[in-house]
Amino acid sequence: MKVKKAVIPAAGLGTRFLPATKAQPKEMLPIVDTPTIQYIVEEAVESGIEDLIIITGRHKRAIEDHFDKNIELEMALERKQKLEMLEQIKDISSLINVHYVRQKEAKGLGHAILCAKTFIGNEPFAVLLGDDIVKAKKPVTKQLIEAFEEKQSTVIGVQKVKDENVSKYGIVEYSKNNGDLYKVDGLVEKPELKDAPSNIAILGRYIITPEIFNILESTPPGKGSEIQLTDALVELMDKEDIYAQVFSGKRYDIGNKLGFLEATIEFALDREDIGGPFREYLYSLLQQELPSLEEIATSKSN
Ligand code: UTP
Repeated sequence: MKVKKAVIPAAGLGTRFLPATKAQPKEMLPIVDTPTIQYIVEEAVESGIEDLIIITGRHKRAIEDHFDKNIELEMALERKQKLEMLEQIKDISSLINVHYVRQKEAKGLGHAILCAKTFIGNEPFAVLLGDDIVKAKKPVTKQLIEAFEEKQSTVIGVQKVKDENVSKYGIVEYSKNNGDLYKVDGLVEKPELKDAPSNIAILGRYIITPEIFNILESTPPGKGSEIQLTDALVELMDKEDIYAQVFSGKRYDIGNKLGFLEATIEFALDREDIGGPFREYLYSLLQQELPSLEEIATSKSN
């Protein structure tokens, strides 16, 4: 079966990015001038996805407005003859047909996916986390769809992470692999390094078969008292094989302050319009003496 639908869960509370996320969605935080979630929607479109549902929550209206038409703004830009900008704005609202459903309470990623059950129906679907951007030559979702087309079974996007980061992710247990495609034997959500079966981590992209919905309906809250998608995937393994595909591309976790800063700098350096002057600025900054780690620690304690 072909993968034509995708779910973007974007209803989380974004507590790692407070206070910025108190009244605005973290998925709308801009990387240079483009909201994070727009990069993700573009990845879905470039991967051949035809129908998209975004799981939203309270304080997430800005996401719906962003992908909607803004007639007033379009008229103002036309009046001012800012035609390039006008086209940009129109392009966003015509990217793809976007649907929305509200997750009434942030009960975890598994619960957010369950909210898409009626929309997805009985077909395999892609999941792209709303706060994970991947810069890749071939869109990651497309890479995973190709693996799915070969295996006709659930495929999770993974990459190796450093030991100190293992406890932040769902981790894959495996015994067999064929190049970059691993046959999954087990999954553990956010294990301590000493208990982790590998350092291969689930990083925000999945192609999942619809059987997951029946499982999610009875998945109890797990780590962090949230309904975990990883726990439901473990149960799905009793019914079908699950594969983990190491994708190529650089992934940025925008929900984390450091990940957001890294993405901002690297995306800005790549930009035709501001890349040059920004490179010069960074270069001149590095010529100056940066504060030492001790100085940073002292200013924090003052
Ligand atoms: P995260 O765990 O990164 O999001 O979930 P969070 O809960 O907003 O983050 P912190 O830890 O409080 O800072 C990954 C993705 O799943 C969505 C989030 O919006 C994010 O895109 N999510 C998470 C939901 O849609 N609903 C939930 O209940 C939890």
